Amino acid sequence: MLDEIAAKPNAWNHRHLLDVDDFSPEEFQLVFETADAMREILARPIKKVPALRGQTVVNLFYENSTRTRASFEIAAKNLSAEVLNVTSTASSIAKGESLIDTLKTLEALGANIIVMRHNLSGAPHVAAKYSKASIINAGDGWHAHPTQALLDLYTIRKHKGNLNGLKAAIIGDVRHSRVAHSNIWGMTRLGMKVTVCGPPTLLPYGLDNPGGLFPEVRVETDVEKAVEDADVVMALRLQRERQQSGLLPSVAEYVRRFQVSQERLKRAKSEVLVMHPGPVNEDIELAAESAYGDKSVINEQVQNGVAVRMAVLYLLAGKQGEL
Ligand code: CP
Repeated sequence: MLDEIAAKPNAWNHRHLLDVDDFSPEEFQLVFETADAMREILARPIKKVPALRGQTVVNLFYENSTRTRASFEIAAKNLSAEVLNVTSTASSIAKGESLIDTLKTLEALGANIIVMRHNLSGAPHVAAKYSKASIINAGDGWHAHPTQALLDLYTIRKHKGNLNGLKAAIIGDVRHSRVAHSNIWGMTRLGMKVTVCGPPTLLPYGLDNPGGLFPEVRVETDVEKAVEDADVVMALRLQRERQQSGLLPSVAEYVRRFQVSQERLKRAKSEVLVMHPGPVNEDIELAAESAYGDKSVINEQVQNGVAVRMAVLYLLAGKQGEL
């Protein structure tokens, strides 16, 4: 199956993965098909292929992570790449080294692909401008988290087949969520109908303005209406720092008005998928019984993250000759 994908040289035209806003439906499809091939590898007793032998993947993380960092490390090792982990707290970044200096240092050490998480929106775009290595955005500020969106879309596809026409409700702190932003791009590009819901202070300004980026996205402040008839309900982490900055009256008020509870999920389709990018604040944005109930695919999202990240590394490595 990987041979068939490798035989489509023009199907993938990205040297970096910074967001999915420029993906065509065919490119999403290519990632999904490549991830299917990776899942076959992951089902084998020895989950290792030589696709990235001789390549070095660096996980460069300026912010904490469990899922993204660990799954990129597993994905790169499954493809036989050398893997280096660099964090801002345990490197010369803590001594004041600039992003560009760090990138040049990693390149000098042989980095081919740099998986980068940064607290500043746009930092991976700057890196892509200055770096000879391929840059994968592993989450930048409020802006984008493309591999999370790809694994979310892949998980929906596994359950529902065609995404076209499915209804998704994304609930919570949409304004500050890089996951929501990348998912809105991906879902709408693939024909899903998206409703975003949360307190007005946590919703992006003008998201659904006529002539704006997403005029077809519905903005809702009533969670009961948002989940009505939904195929997918995605809760987002309530970022506690937002409450401290005065954007929410209290966590208790948020729970009362916006928590994805079992009762509220009854309004969605009976086969609804309950999703969350993690980490979950249990019993805040998502009731524990919703997070761990039979409609939850949260653990599948994490598992699919390995196959999808193997797919992304594999596809980007095919562009190494063009660096
Ligand atoms: N979903 C996500 O990005 O999780 P981590 O912060 O644990 O990587």
